[in-house]
Amino acid sequence: MEIGSPTSCTKFTSQPKISGLQSSALEATRPNLYLLLGSCLVASSLEDSIAQQKLDKVLKLPGQTFNVSFARYAGYVTVDKNSGRALFYWFFEAAEDPDSKPLLLWLNGGPGCSSIAYGLAEEIGPFHIRPDGKTLYLNPYSWNLASNLLFIDSPVGVGFSYSNTSSDLLNNGDKRTAKDSLNFLLKWLERFPQYKDRDFYIAGESYAGHYVPQLSQAIVRYNKATKAKAINLKGYMVGNALTDDYHHYLGLFQFLWSAGLISDETYKLSNVLCDYKSLVHSPDSCIEVLGVAVEEMGNIDTYSIYTPPCSANASQAKWLLKRRLMVGQLGEKYDPCTAKHTEAYFNLPEVQKSLHVLPGAAPFKWETCSETVNRYWKDSPRTVLDVYEELIHEGLRIWIFSGDTDAAIPITSTRYTIDALKLPTVGGRTQEYKGLNFLSVRGAGHEVPKHRPKQALTLIKAFLAGTSMPAAASASQQLISEIMGIVVITL
Ligand SMILES: *[C@@H]1O[C@H](CO)[C@@H](O)[C@H](O)[C@H]1NC(C)=O
Ligand SMILES: *[C@@H]1O[C@H](CO)[C@@H](O)[C@H](O)[C@H]1NC(C)=O
Ligand SMILES: *[C@@H]1O[C@H](CO)[C@@H](O)[C@H](O)[C@H]1NC(C)=O
Repeated sequence: MEIGSPTSCTKFTSQPKISGLQSSALEATRPNLYLLLGSCLVASSLEDSIAQQKLDKVLKLPGQTFNVSFARYAGYVTVDKNSGRALFYWFFEAAEDPDSKPLLLWLNGGPGCSSIAYGLAEEIGPFHIRPDGKTLYLNPYSWNLASNLLFIDSPVGVGFSYSNTSSDLLNNGDKRTAKDSLNFLLKWLERFPQYKDRDFYIAGESYAGHYVPQLSQAIVRYNKATKAKAINLKGYMVGNALTDDYHHYLGLFQFLWSAGLISDETYKLSNVLCDYKSLVHSPDSCIEVLGVAVEEMGNIDTYSIYTPPCSANASQAKWLLKRRLMVGQLGEKYDPCTAKHTEAYFNLPEVQKSLHVLPGAAPFKWETCSETVNRYWKDSPRTVLDVYEELIHEGLRIWIFSGDTDAAIPITSTRYTIDALKLPTVGGRTQEYKGLNFLSVRGAGHEVPKHRPKQALTLIKAFLAGTSMPAAASASQQLISEIMGIVVITL
């Protein structure tokens, strides 16, 4: 609908109480044109957003053999008009009572990986994809049991997100990603005004260890600059997150060595050749050592060192599964090849149509991670600890979790990184610091919710509720945490 079109004006001026502007008798008899125009603008944009919501509504998807009661929406939000950059989102209302639940944004990393491919389709989303690559099943541990759940493919060039300026795909980086994501949220909340004042949280994993705090910082600064709370950000949580390159490398090689995955020689070489400075822009000599390390590790899944890799053949996988069960590693069924099924499903034209993917903008072949985006990544600061310092000061709720069988961004790296914050000790039986919680999830790999879905749902519920798991927790609470597979260390 056009802004200020006759119908919306007529409708709203005939109901003067709605605008609340005609409080004086003078205004009632001779409406102030400027104010009237204002109410027309509000009215039409509200109608616009409702209309756009309707257009974005997702109906039953191909291969969806079950019904759900919660609403789903998918589509694009333009984040930069001049170059034609648009981010793709998929939104799930909470399974029950969405009006009372917070809004949660989930981001995957890469850089270049799709939040829909990983977060939604194999970790925390309600719809997961069966091995046939054609049908869906309902994830019983979906995080939309705890929140209204929003996924975006970020930045442009990832998943279904696109730019009409092709050079944009060669110029992605941390800074523009944060800026575009902030624009996305501001505009998305215009389209979904019912979520405008809602408590808002951000969560993500891996390289989103950059995105999540950086976007949080962008929101906090925007709110300050505009002296308004356009986005009601309450906190964020990251898992197996890249935070600080120096401490990442320090912890990485130590983890590989102590897990028996690399030789003494390689470990010693890593200490000499990796100057532990930057992951994205590592020195060549260090990349070589990493290559040697990977060779030595052989055919294992670095993201989950005790589970079979996707390439393992059937008999091998069975054997590994047996071993795994014998040592009591994982209780849940685990499929290492989920990314393959996802790729098959999201390349189906009828699926893309149901999700309102723009035909011209859809990539020739949809991929879980874009190599182009990854390879041409521009700016990536060596640390985001300075952002943590700023945001801890703002009183945001900040939680960090780590699956302890991940060799990509291992728990040792995360612990060194948190140490580096030198947060003041509060005291208690376990380590407790001010401003940040750290949780280790036993038996989980890089994608914690994929390996430990039940525990991850418990985790997000505790995070959103702000339930502290303090050092002074009773012995029974500690025990419960242990049973659930979560070892709680409050930092
Ligand atoms: C889903 O809902 C439709 C329409 O109400 C109904 O016809 C169908 O039987 C339902 N399917 C399942 C699996 O419950
Ligand atoms: C990109 O170009 C297409 C085709 O001209 C157009 O339909 C679309 O709206 C453009 N996207 C953006 C974000 O400007
Ligand atoms: C599967 O792996 C096992 C163990 O490495 C090997 O002996 C067997 O030949 C493989 N089977 C196939 C079909 O590749």
